Amino acid sequence: MAIQIAPSILSADFANLERDIAAVSAADLLHVDVMDAHFVPNLTLGLPIVERIAQVSSLPVDTHLMIEDPDHWAPRYAEAGAASVTFHYEAAKNPVAIARDLRALGVRASVALKPGTDASAIIDDLKEFDMVLVMTVEPGFGGQAFMPEMLPKIEAIRAAVDRGVADGSLAIAPWIQVDGGIAPDTAHSVTSAGANVLVAGSAVYGADDRAAAIAALREVANGPETINGVPASGGPGAHHH
Ligand code: DX5
Ligand code: ZN
Repeated sequence: MAIQIAPSILSADFANLERDIAAVSAADLLHVDVMDAHFVPNLTLGLPIVERIAQVSSLPVDTHLMIEDPDHWAPRYAEAGAASVTFHYEAAKNPVAIARDLRALGVRASVALKPGTDASAIIDDLKEFDMVLVMTVEPGFGGQAFMPEMLPKIEAIRAAVDRGVADGSLAIAPWIQVDGGIAPDTAHSVTSAGANVLVAGSAVYGADDRAAAIAALREVANGPETINGVPASGGPGAHHH
């Protein structure tokens, strides 16, 4: 599967959201960070705004809930029009029950892990999830530095997903998303480790040309275009003798 890019509107202009949502229409998903000032020390937006975003966005809405009591709130975001709802493992009383509620509402069910939470928290329950989000910064704010020490966690989840698909215990391969400090200089390391959905806030909205920033991430994440394994233009291997 090609790598998917999910711009985070946390770095958009909140007074011009519709304009800034339209500016990233070349991406695959629209990442919306919901924060409650309790689970994380920041406050963003909630249900009524997610509902309007889902109405105006041409991209599926990928909600990232950094809130307490997702057992209660996660299904409400599905009802508000999100295509995917990610809740934090650390905040959940019953992660599997939340995921089943979300799937029953017809949306993708996704679980997020803070940097301090080990992959083993969810590895035995992978069949319950459509995506696992590996946080590559402490959740709460955009513009933080990527944590390379999260790469082994991505690799461990990728190995478990591939094993489960191979032995038939997983009917579908959950996507592996990364969020925090993703930019052209870090994208290749996370996709090499096995991530296939890249969230990027400041790397997209900090650029004057958002479409070009998305294209740059895509190029680094997928590697250069090749034809039968040969680079389409330039580079070693493109020479004829
Ligand atoms: C942080 C949020 C991220 C944030 C990423 O807690 O979950 O989605 O927007 O911002 P960057 O890409 O700037 O690190
Ligand atoms: Zn996020």
